[in-house]
Amino acid sequence: MKNKNSIKINIPNNAYTITVGKNLLKDVDKYFNLKRKILIVTDDNIPVEYIKTVKSKIKDCYLLVIEHGEKNKNFTNYQKILQTLIKHNFNRSDAIIAIGGGVIGDMSAFASSTYMRGIDFYNIPTTLLSQVDSSIGGKTAIDYMGVKNIVGTFYQPKAVLIDTDTLKSLPRRQLNNGIVESIKMAVTFDKKFFNFLKTIPDILKNSDTIVYNSLIIKKSVVEKDLKEKNLRKVLNFGHTLGHAIEESLNLKYLHGECVGIGMLYFSSDTVKNEIKDILSKYNLPTKLKFDKNKVIKLMAHDKKSNSDTISIIYVDKIGSYKIKKWTLNEIICNMGL
Ligand SMILES: NC(=O)c1ccc[n+]([C@@H]2O[C@H](COP(=O)([O-])OP(=O)(O)OC[C@H]3O[C@@H](n4cnc5c(N)ncnc54)[C@H](O)[C@@H]3O)[C@@H](O)[C@H]2O)c1
Repeated sequence: MKNKNSIKINIPNNAYTITVGKNLLKDVDKYFNLKRKILIVTDDNIPVEYIKTVKSKIKDCYLLVIEHGEKNKNFTNYQKILQTLIKHNFNRSDAIIAIGGGVIGDMSAFASSTYMRGIDFYNIPTTLLSQVDSSIGGKTAIDYMGVKNIVGTFYQPKAVLIDTDTLKSLPRRQLNNGIVESIKMAVTFDKKFFNFLKTIPDILKNSDTIVYNSLIIKKSVVEKDLKEKNLRKVLNFGHTLGHAIEESLNLKYLHGECVGIGMLYFSSDTVKNEIKDILSKYNLPTKLKFDKNKVIKLMAHDKKSNSDTISIIYVDKIGSYKIKKWTLNEIICNMGL
């Protein structure tokens, strides 16, 4: 498998570089322009040594620690970021650095994109999910009125630094949760990568290769379809159902755990068995008990009527996909729900 440590994301007027490797935090000043006022946004689960290492490279640094968890990706904390910026007279030439998972990354990026119509945003993702998925593509968001990611923007970071050593402190369940997004990308795009994920003995020992190859796939998609008009929908493989299952079970299971189940329903029998095997390898559920009616209702939630079609990503053969436009009724029938 390929493994270089620098990936350039070619987005018109907003190109940026993602650097992947070990022991990189101590060299953060090589990758980010830190000679200005910087606000670090993080959460209370992130080991303090990561923060200290980054902070030690910044002269004019402020720190905001937010309580961890999805429920805190909200308007109140978004306001807290803005209040901190205003209180300390941040101007358009200053910057924000997010150190944390997708919650901190999405919310800090959203604040960066709206404060003074946009200040520089740097990302240091520290979960596997955020390293392979939310670090690239420029989606920013907060949750509002119970709806996930309902308020947000498309806004590209100035640079992203992925120090895969930060994964060492991540709980194993979170690591396995993150690998689902890599599995999803491998299943739809790259059989070789799928086989690699199937055979490696450990995530941590192979984290650079996992992150690099996942990002290369997502890069090829987001560069062609920045605002999810078409191709980018392929990244939703397993997600339509996965989200609904996740919500129906009141977030008892992690996002990746539910997406894994979601993928099984949109695959041919052979692919289904292959996905089941790889999910088991990473201690991910291959079966979840959920209320089918509740899940169907949740999937229908945003649709005006049952005749509206939903773009479904379906996999017949590992390394490829088909986009099908199914009505909700067709989804229910085809999935055997
Ligand atoms: N912008 C995008 O394109 C995109 C893509 C996928 C997901 N997301 C968003 O990402 C979020 C989920 O991200 P996540 O799974 O990273 O969740 P998260 O940010 O909640 O992190 C998961 C948990 O791990 C802890 N943690 C993070 N890094 C750690 C480390 N190195 N050591 C120990 N603990 C650590 C966090 O405090 C948290 O408790 C969701 O809000 C989702 O909407 C965004």
